Parts: sequence; structure tokens; C-alpha cells
Amino acid sequence: MSVTVFRNARIFTPDDQGKPHAGQDQGSLVSYDVGALLMQDGLIVKIGPERDVLAALEPAVVDEAKDCQGKCLVPGFVDPHTHNCFASLRESEFALRLSGTPYLEILKQGGGILSSVKAVANASIDDLYANTKKQVLRALSLGTTTMEIKSGYGLDTVNELKMLEAINRVSMHTPVDIRATFLGAHAVPLAYRGKTDEFISMAIDEMLPAVARQGIAKQCDIFCEKGVFTIAQGRRLLSAAIAMGMKVKLHADEVNDLGGAGLAAELQALSADHLLAANEENMEAMARAGVVATLLPATAYSLRKPYARARTMLQKNLAVALATDCNPGSSYTESMPFVIGLAVLNMGMTPAEALTGVTLNAAYAIDMAHSVGSLNVGKQADFLILDGKSPAILAYHAGVSSVAEVYKKGIKVSS
Ligand code: NIG
Ligand code: FE
Repeated sequence: MSVTVFRNARIFTPDDQGKPHAGQDQGSLVSYDVGALLMQDGLIVKIGPERDVLAALEPAVVDEAKDCQGKCLVPGFVDPHTHNCFASLRESEFALRLSGTPYLEILKQGGGILSSVKAVANASIDDLYANTKKQVLRALSLGTTTMEIKSGYGLDTVNELKMLEAINRVSMHTPVDIRATFLGAHAVPLAYRGKTDEFISMAIDEMLPAVARQGIAKQCDIFCEKGVFTIAQGRRLLSAAIAMGMKVKLHADEVNDLGGAGLAAELQALSADHLLAANEENMEAMARAGVVATLLPATAYSLRKPYARARTMLQKNLAVALATDCNPGSSYTESMPFVIGLAVLNMGMTPAEALTGVTLNAAYAIDMAHSVGSLNVGKQADFLILDGKSPAILAYHAGVSSVAEVYKKGIKVSS
């Protein structure tokens, strides 16, 4: 049994009351100017004003006391949407995009996601493990203590299972909590060009049962987009996943408004992600259904598209989560501080709203809020010490990370 107290910290956290913080509540944080956090065996046992936390404490039972010198202490970041398992980068495609070729055009020509599929097919599990681990450790150093990682560069049973196995190994060999998502319908593989319905049938009859047997992925995702998968195909696949006991989420309305946000509401998905082109009626449907809107501003930045309408979504009482979408194509960054900066300076979110977006709401978006996403008693002691006095430092100090120290289950894992 080990008891540690962190004192003299400016603490900021959303308070988990059993659901994501939506609309006007998105920006409500609990804060203590001179706060303390007491933890035992990796879990939070008390948090509040320092004098209250210390008054209740027998000094003899404390193994370690740390003075945070008035620095800001916030929950560890939860990155709820990444494609961090891949085999190689796509720098030449970045150059193509810079010279004007649209992202979906590159995919149509057999590149894009399909380049990454080729690379994964040629990679061993050890290669994938090494690359994914590198991505995950870089994210950890930037404050991400919990992360979702999708498969989706396999597109056949063997390679999807291989990716999920590599993700699982990384989760066992790094401090980061990793939630794996099956994204077998990320693109139409070349062998199924013109036979997309058959591919979805194969995904339902062959891939999904194999993924369920393997037991690593707890949720299923699909890329619904013009020239990729339709809403009807999304409905078929995700309904089959729900019938097998999986939770669902989807890449919705990223480039074109196909109605993915409406499908997410209909299926009561955990989240609908991207939403750059989502319409207001479907935003309202998502709010009624309690679906988290996961926004990926680094993708809009990298694709040079208008940002998702976070303010409209908050006015419509949606809960907004923020993620990197880290992948070798549309958004290559592991940095949640960068995402926070974009959300605050380019999407009009307040620093408090952005903090909730990268912690509590992000945890709900991947079904992990029972253990992470806020500094509530009973949750894991996953937190960050920032080089500043408030969460605003994360957006204010641009282009670098203000994350000075990272703690996972109470243990310092990066500084
Ligand atoms: O979320 N849009 C689909 N999937 C990813 C990109 C994946 C890739 O380009 O490799 C996204 O943007
Ligand atoms: Fe994505």
C-alpha cells in the first residue's frame, strides 16, 4: 500500500456526474487555487482544498508528499480517435496534397488509406508493434494517458487481427490505457472495387465474428463517405456489431454531408467523429440521443478545410470531445496540446471547454469514463502538471507542449 499526496497545486478538472458535460456545462470545471490530491495504490482517494485534504490526514501514513509549487494540475488527456497503428508514413502524398490533389482523389487512385493497407500487409506484428509503441510513447510524453487506436489498414481478416494484436501488445507494454476499435470498413480494398455491398457482407460474416473471438476490440467503426461506404452500408455493419455486443462509433460527415451524424443518433453510438459537414438537424438528433461529437481540428488543419462548428454544437447542447485523429494521411500529430490550441484559437472553444473535451467527454466517447477522464475519487490517478497556472497555458504557449510531468496510476511516467 502506498499513499502519496500532491499539494500546493492549482487543480482544474471536470466533475464526473455520470454523463458527458454537454452544452453550457461543457466549460464547468471544479478548481482549487491551493489544492491537494491524495492517492493510494494508483487511485484518487481525496481531492480538494489543501487544508481540507491535509487536515484529515495522519502524517505518518503518507509515504511521499510532493509540493507542486503552485503549478496547474489537470487530468491526463484521453485521445478518443487515433489510427496510431500503421507501418509507414506517406510524405509523398503530403506533397501531392500541398500541390492541390484532394485527399479523396488520392484514395480513388489507390493511394491514401490503401497505401497504408499495402504497408501493413507487408509488415510483421513486430514491425507494427514497434511503430505503434513509438507513436504511443510520443503521445504519452505530450500528456495522453489513455488512447483509442483503430485497426483499419488491414481490410481483410488476417491483417485486421494482426493490427489488433499489435495494438494489444502495445497496451500491455506501455503505461497508456489503450481502447482498441475495429475499423475493418475503413476503405474498399482493391479486390472489392465495385462490389462494396459484398465487402460489407464479408465484414459481417467473416471479420466481425473473428474480431469478437479474438476479444481485443470492444467497439466497431466505419468510414461513411462519398466513394467509400454509404449510410445504408454503415447501418448494416454497425447493427451487426451491436447484435454481437459491441459498442459503435463512426467517421461521419468528414468531407460530405451524407447523414452520418443522423445514423450515429439512430444507433445511439458512443460518438460520431469529424462532423465537418454535418447538418444542424442531425446535430440536434445526436444531442437528443446523447451521442458525443468527437471533433478532430488537426484534420481540418491538415486538409485545409473549415473547422467543425463547435460553437453551434455546444449551443445545440451537444457534448464535444477532441482528438488527434493521428494517422499517416489526413492528420499526422500525436499532440493533444496542439489540438487544444486549434480548438481554442480556431474553433472558438474556451480553454475550460477544451479541457473537458480532451478529458471527461473524450473518456465517455470511448466508454472509459468509469476509470479515467476526471479527477474524481475512485478513478485512476492519471494527471499532468503543467508549466503554467491554468489550462489556458496549453493553447497560449503555442507550438510546444506545456505538459511538464505526466502521472499514470500515480506513477511518474514522463517529464
Ligand atoms: O479519420 N477518414 C478516414 N480515416 C482517417 C484517415 C486515415 C488515413 O488517411 O490513413 C481520418 O481522417
Ligand atoms: Fe479517423
